[in-house]
Amino acid sequence: MKMRTLQRVIESQPTSDGAGVKLRRSLGSSAFARLDPFLMLDEFFSDDPDDYLAGFPDHPHRGFETVTYMLEGRMQHRDHLGNTGDLGPGVVQWMTAGRGVIHSEMPQQSEGRMRGFQLWINLPAAEKMRPAEYRDIPANLVPELHFAGGMARVIAGRLELAAGHQAGVINGQPGTMATDPLLLDLRLDANAAVDLPIPAGHNALVYVYDGEMAVADQRVPGRSAGLFGDGEFAGLSAGGLGGRALLLAGRPLGEAVVQYGPFVMNTREQIEQAVADYRAGRLTM
Ligand code: FE2
Repeated sequence: MKMRTLQRVIESQPTSDGAGVKLRRSLGSSAFARLDPFLMLDEFFSDDPDDYLAGFPDHPHRGFETVTYMLEGRMQHRDHLGNTGDLGPGVVQWMTAGRGVIHSEMPQQSEGRMRGFQLWINLPAAEKMRPAEYRDIPANLVPELHFAGGMARVIAGRLELAAGHQAGVINGQPGTMATDPLLLDLRLDANAAVDLPIPAGHNALVYVYDGEMAVADQRVPGRSAGLFGDGEFAGLSAGGLGGRALLLAGRPLGEAVVQYGPFVMNTREQIEQAVADYRAGRLTM
């Protein structure tokens, strides 16, 4: 069995987005900090309402999918299709922007802690202009797989650790998602370790958001994305405090990426079209 090694670390950078929400961006902090098919990974985490109250008022997207995963606090999603979503702890929101979504994501609290993630997953050229879709997965429908020394919540994909130990949800139509994502929220107890099967050929990364973890003897710094090389398994171990991390894997698309803010296409002409469509009020049509 071929173990994946740690190839590169992308430290998260403090930034702000929306109407001034403070967050940390690892993937997507520059055009060189991506891991096909993943375009961006943001973590928002604050006890200070001034860091998140402004939220993300109406804004567009085209050409990719967003996955929002909440740990603490509440956000409300509204979009041009009339969907509303109440995003609380443990909830997964999956939005396929396709040809266009205009939506808002606003905090539903005026005090306390807000903590969660947003991941952008690219769409293949053939699907960038597909109709927009939106779905919420309630926290109690996100499978939890317990194993010796820890637990994995399966945000997307299917995880099989050993005979009789499998859990998973498929987001979208099984077999039709070109990127075939496996997204896990992983908890390891103090000094525990796990080998996770990851489809060979998928790109994979780990983002440690609490405590400490290591790949073989290489420590993955907190709030950084550790990018794996290829292989069949990703091995992770926790330090004396245990750790929590996102493990993200997906099939690379190998296509040109041209990004302008919330539009991610394959060519500059397609970006110009997206901007023109948005200005003319026909992004979502
Ligand atoms: Fe958005």
